[in-house]
Amino acid sequence: MSRRSRSGRAASEPDDGVPADGVPGAQAPADGVPDGEAVADAAHPTRRTVLKAIGIGGGTVLLAGTGVVGVRAERNGVWSVGEGAPWQLWSTWQDAPGTTALVAAGALAANPHNLQPWSWAAADDGIDLYDDPTRAMPLGDPDGRERIVGYGCALANVVLAARARGLRAQVQAWPDPAEPGHIAHIALSDGPAPDAREQRLAAAISHRHSDRGPYQDAAVDAAVLDDLVSGTADRGTEDLGAEGPGAEVVWVTEPAARATLGDLYVEATAAIIADEPVSVEAFSWFRNDRAQIERYRDGLTLDCQGMSPLMLAAAKILPAQSRTSGDAYWLKSTRQVHTATAAAYGIIRVADVGSATDRLAGGQLLQQVHLAATDAGLGLQHLNQIGERVDRDRALGATDQFSERWAQVLGIPAGQALVSFRLGHPTRTPHPSPRRTLTSIGV
Ligand SMILES: Cc1cc2nc3c(=O)[nH]c(=O)nc-3n(C[C@H](O)[C@H](O)[C@H](O)COP(=O)(O)O)c2cc1C
Repeated sequence: MSRRSRSGRAASEPDDGVPADGVPGAQAPADGVPDGEAVADAAHPTRRTVLKAIGIGGGTVLLAGTGVVGVRAERNGVWSVGEGAPWQLWSTWQDAPGTTALVAAGALAANPHNLQPWSWAAADDGIDLYDDPTRAMPLGDPDGRERIVGYGCALANVVLAARARGLRAQVQAWPDPAEPGHIAHIALSDGPAPDAREQRLAAAISHRHSDRGPYQDAAVDAAVLDDLVSGTADRGTEDLGAEGPGAEVVWVTEPAARATLGDLYVEATAAIIADEPVSVEAFSWFRNDRAQIERYRDGLTLDCQGMSPLMLAAAKILPAQSRTSGDAYWLKSTRQVHTATAAAYGIIRVADVGSATDRLAGGQLLQQVHLAATDAGLGLQHLNQIGERVDRDRALGATDQFSERWAQVLGIPAGQALVSFRLGHPTRTPHPSPRRTLTSIGV
């Protein structure tokens, strides 16, 4: 694995110290709470007005436990973030019987928009991973690039969980050419005792979450970045099924390069928002309240947007927000939080982003880096607006607006940047995202 690192100081935080006014971070245009002022009219008081009314604007907390506010607070889990059946797997996966626990580990991996687009089969000597074509975003991910990266993330978790139990797990990708929906077979056999790194990464499976909050204004040491990647190329690579040159991480830490990259993410976010069908599709995977979360146990939620506790409570108490106002907040938080407080960007580089096996290998590396970051106490958020626009332009037959500029700032040929993320020292504790039941994913 090679590393390109340009050291530098993190960009400055937004001036009020509460980035984006506590706005939810966002993967999808659907992620947010609207800017109250953007949606204000006589019938709808501004969000700011409401926040002031409940005491948040002035720094006083008056989240009343009675009346409408109390009912909505209770109903939307203001007092019980991350508690309940949709989040149980995070703490119980290790207790599942036999190899079902390994599937549970896979299901806890990062995956695009939390679609959880899979089903699984588990036997004593092997596990199978299948595509679930009903869980897809054909406009946002038109040729399944992110989807396959997500499968790679899931495989990494399975392999690490197996290793931690002294099992060897050998991944065979697309074992049956006649069945493209059969993503992988993982053969299990007795293996060596896990080494310390494998144990640490497996232990991080329960604690890894996407951190969409602001990061501290502090650089991450180059040696720490190196350590996130080193070790992923040892005996892991063979079992993880990374083929050929596999995948590597390109780090961007130098301030000018970060600033240029940040501008590209913001521009790509604006382009997604302006593309209404894509925005509508993403919004369909946003679960605004507890009832939806309990029903679907997938998608993006307010809990996972990196808001401060006060803002999260307010967002849950206020009425559900519209797609367009959520989009506006997503753009704002991309500019004022995500890119403004990124201490480093990591780009998973492969030989060919169009290759399915490269995508799978890239996802395996991505998940390992995320687990290593969790183990090191760092925050990490996937950021893929640029790649999504590249794919969308291609699907539309439109002029590619981003590939060349992206490749130029990364210093690599176009067509090799698979997925990317931002990284930094966290300021908040990210919350878990919901997961479907093991029964509903086949085991
Ligand atoms: C290939 C891929 C692309 C993703 N892209 C984004 C993104 O652009 N922005 C973002 O906030 N999260 C992104 N995510 C993170 C997912 O939304 C997240 O993994 C999912 O919601 C589950 O949450 P968790 O990671 O906290 O378990 C991506 C994840 C994967 C695997």
